[in-house]
Amino acid sequence: INIGKKFPNDFLWGGATAANQIEGGFDEGNKGLNIADVLPGGKERLKFLKEPGFKFEINKSKYNYPNHQAIDFYHRYKEDIKLFAEMGFKVFRMSIAWSRIFPNGTELEPNEEGLAFYDRVFDELHKHGIEPVVTISHYEMPLNLVENYGGWKSRKVVPLFERYASTVISRYKKKVKYWMTFNEINSALHFPIMSMGFSVQEGENKYQSVFQAFHHQFVASSLAVKACREIIPEAKIGCMLLHAPVYSYDSNPENVLYALQEERIFNYFCGDVQVRGEYPAYARRFLKEHFVDLNIEDGDSELIKEYTVDYIGLSYYMSQTQKKDKEGHDVASGNLLEGVKNPFLEASDWGWEIDPIGLRIGLNRLYDRYQVPLFVVENGLGAYDKVDDDGSINDDYRIEYLRSHIEAMAEAYDDGVDLMGYTSWGCIDLVSASTGEMSKRYGFIYVDKHDDGSGTLDRKKKKSFYWFQKVIKSNGEKL
Ligand code: BG6
Repeated sequence: INIGKKFPNDFLWGGATAANQIEGGFDEGNKGLNIADVLPGGKERLKFLKEPGFKFEINKSKYNYPNHQAIDFYHRYKEDIKLFAEMGFKVFRMSIAWSRIFPNGTELEPNEEGLAFYDRVFDELHKHGIEPVVTISHYEMPLNLVENYGGWKSRKVVPLFERYASTVISRYKKKVKYWMTFNEINSALHFPIMSMGFSVQEGENKYQSVFQAFHHQFVASSLAVKACREIIPEAKIGCMLLHAPVYSYDSNPENVLYALQEERIFNYFCGDVQVRGEYPAYARRFLKEHFVDLNIEDGDSELIKEYTVDYIGLSYYMSQTQKKDKEGHDVASGNLLEGVKNPFLEASDWGWEIDPIGLRIGLNRLYDRYQVPLFVVENGLGAYDKVDDDGSINDDYRIEYLRSHIEAMAEAYDDGVDLMGYTSWGCIDLVSASTGEMSKRYGFIYVDKHDDGSGTLDRKKKKSFYWFQKVIKSNGEKL
């Protein structure tokens, strides 16, 4: 029991990123195109993510593609890792770009140049005493699998992913002890394009496609867990959930019931399968009512039951407030989760409602349900930053946001929740996943790169850099 303690001594402090949002070098080292490479920057991106009929092509005369260069981590990783080390990071969360290893997703042999790149990155991290935390799939499916297979709708993707996952697990068995399978697996309920590689077409039953794709991902995730157990038994492999705890708008039982149902399907369904190893009881009725007929092959259920995850990685940015009948209510649209506005919460410049207590609530709910270690692998504030005349960046709003969330996490730990660590999202400014903007900055480290693609790519420490350094040094005592 950890009552009265702030954080465990071996708490994993650090920062989080994804390959497609930092690396750039999109056509270097024999890398194949992936889904992020064809998503344009700016507000259009959201439209594309949500609209049917999205065309997977690169049209440079019309759009810019911010992930092509991103922040050039591909060439600057040494400089960046040095800065992470200066902040005192114990861990660095990153993903491996699938299409660097299997450019089309279908090759029989991996691309050595891609593998060697991550060897260099892991070696550099270890040189500085930083453990990598690796997401195997973070919104960057090879484009060939998107265009020619329909993404995760196709069962054929399962063995291709298995080959990719076991290749990287065995290649890096001496270098990586923390793994996660699919980033924010449940996010597909709202925008399947990024994590599942398809958009829902006119007349298509979204639930049939998304839940069948989930099933394929569950099988694939269990195969990755199996590979990890066999190849690196001492490693830990987790799932990764977008966690946005649901509140009922009021005490009207209709709304309370609606909130419960939303909570189950959005926040718990994937975790229920990946942590407990079976489809939850409530799934039967939900799937039936949404006309979903799942194709589950022989052996799938046994595999899912046997190879459950060791821990839950989660992102936390906001809670969601749900009401059955939303008419006449402002929708908290910035949240992407289609809830109603919560009158008690302020929102970020992008409309994401800021709710540190929601993190404590979410961690408690998750731990009550699963009793496996929780790892907060994303949390942060996307904000506009200004470089002052003297070159300083005084991001007090970010410090305030992070402080209140870390405090809430400490409370959850004191409540008895088993917490592994905290990696702040976008520890270095990077390309936003939902809008492709650079101006939506999360970092402790500023990158001189702008929405129009201009900038020197120089790195600069923000005020929050020194603050987070102190937080880590004091193991969360000095906030
Ligand atoms: C999570 C993703 O959804 O939130 C990240 O795992 C993403 O890839 C982060 O960048 C913040 O979202 P955004 O849209 O502000 O980049």
